[in-house]
Amino acid sequence: MSLFIKLGLVTMCAVAAVSAAVAEDSPTPEQQVRQAIETRQSLFKLMNWNFAPLAAMLRNRIPFDASVAQKAAMRVEMLAPMIPELFQQDTGRPPDIKTRARESIWSGTSDFAAKAQDLVNAAVALTSAAKTGDRATILKATVGVGKACGSCHDSFRED
Ligand code: HEC
Repeated sequence: MSLFIKLGLVTMCAVAAVSAAVAEDSPTPEQQVRQAIETRQSLFKLMNWNFAPLAAMLRNRIPFDASVAQKAAMRVEMLAPMIPELFQQDTGRPPDIKTRARESIWSGTSDFAAKAQDLVNAAVALTSAAKTGDRATILKATVGVGKACGSCHDSFRED
């Protein structure tokens, strides 16, 4: 068998295997909704986990540390722009899946994306505040981030 035929066969088998895997994995609309909800909740869990040390510093539960603040700020700054992307799919509120997202997120007049941008801006401000190393400046900017989280929750998250 010539090399070209061998390569051709190998390629065909690979393509067939990939198509089979794609067909198997292609989710039903219900599964897509479930995945979208689980993924966005994972994002918030991750964001919360990164913000937790900052919140703890604010409450004097752990010693103040500017480098911890800087790391957390950079991570929130990186994660926040994913919020609108992960809410692109209008999942509504399916009866069998636990979600606290309000339907108004997907109404045309919603300022959901603006609230996500507020968080990005607050995180950027915290990143630069963290570079000063100054406790009061950093904690003030931390409050700004906390407010951006809370403001979106007030409008778009069920209690
Ligand atoms: C632009 C809006 C918005 C911003 C900004 C936002 N959240 Fe949320 N958050 C939501 C919505 C909506 C939900 C509900 C998601 C769901 O249940 O499907 C949520 C859910 C959560 C949850 C629960 C996740 C779970 O376990 O299901 C946590 C924790 C959370 N947010 C923390 C934060 C923190 C911390 C910040 C700021 C660093 C933040 N959020 C900023 C809208 C926002």
